[in-house]
Amino acid sequence: MISLAEFLNGQQRLIDEALDRFTPPESALPETIHRAMRYSLFAGGKRIRPVLCLQAAASIADDAPGALEAACSLEMIHTYSLIHDDLPALDNDDYRRGKLTNHKVFGDAMAILAGDALFTLAMQTLTRIQGLEPARKLALIEELAFASGTVEGMIGGQVTDIEGERQPPTAELLDRIHRAKTGALLRASVRMGAIAAGGSAPQLDAISRYGEHIGLAFQIVDDILDIEESSAALGKTAGKDVAQGKITFPAVYGLDASRDMAQQHCREAHEALAPFGGRAIRLHEIADLIVQRKS
Ligand code: IPE
Ligand code: IPE
Ligand code: MG
Ligand code: MG
Ligand code: MG
Repeated sequence: MISLAEFLNGQQRLIDEALDRFTPPESALPETIHRAMRYSLFAGGKRIRPVLCLQAAASIADDAPGALEAACSLEMIHTYSLIHDDLPALDNDDYRRGKLTNHKVFGDAMAILAGDALFTLAMQTLTRIQGLEPARKLALIEELAFASGTVEGMIGGQVTDIEGERQPPTAELLDRIHRAKTGALLRASVRMGAIAAGGSAPQLDAISRYGEHIGLAFQIVDDILDIEESSAALGKTAGKDVAQGKITFPAVYGLDASRDMAQQHCREAHEALAPFGGRAIRLHEIADLIVQRKS
């Protein structure tokens, strides 16, 4: 079996090639918006959500029509959420993925529209899936829309995150923010792969539990890295959470307890994969990577 690093390289190439096919070329009119969308889409993200989607599908079936479209739709939504997260009205960041943020290059108006456009492109990408029964296609659309939305979804989490700035960091608020702003899309990533692969209800339950645990672990580690790593290592400005009075795991529990909690979620993620046996080997490796990563 090839190493995880080599495997992820191959997956990233596959995903980048598909994203390129599903996104209008820079030459399409009006050119500015397509340049702005592509600038952030191809700025060098880790592609963790699409990889999770493809590997959840592979844990259930050899063939999963629509899994690649689902994977790309998740990365489109994620990239849109980052473009908007960086806007002056939200986190006001100048760097993302090692480059200037979208609004720094294209201006606020185009960055807002590029985010909007990636959202609609994600939905369109799902509607264009060939060879998948309509009920399953609808289930994919519902899954992505729910995870991106206001009730326990990404936007809801962003709202609570912004409103929580400089408020007393309580454990209850922290849990609500992290499950929604980051956890929902990571959970949807594995669920959409499982849906495309025709997973059974028990399989969907198991993969959802895995997704919830890695989702929480992912944002705990993001909070820790914001404190411990350099801006150069992260490709985004470090130390922003304390500066902006964000409700984070280290703010509520301290660094050591936060690290332990990330490890605990990682263990529970591994346990949730039991029903998939050896087929889920890459999902096991990705859970470890999420906790051990340095960027
Ligand atoms: C960053 O996500 C924002 C969070 C939800 C914590 P990633 O760490 O996956 O960012 P990219 O896609 O690799 O840039
Ligand atoms: C971002 O959380 C979550 C979303 C974009 C939905 P953060 O604000 O912590 O992400 P970074 O640290 O800027 O990547
Ligand atoms: Mg934010
Ligand atoms: Mg931010
Ligand atoms: Mg962060």
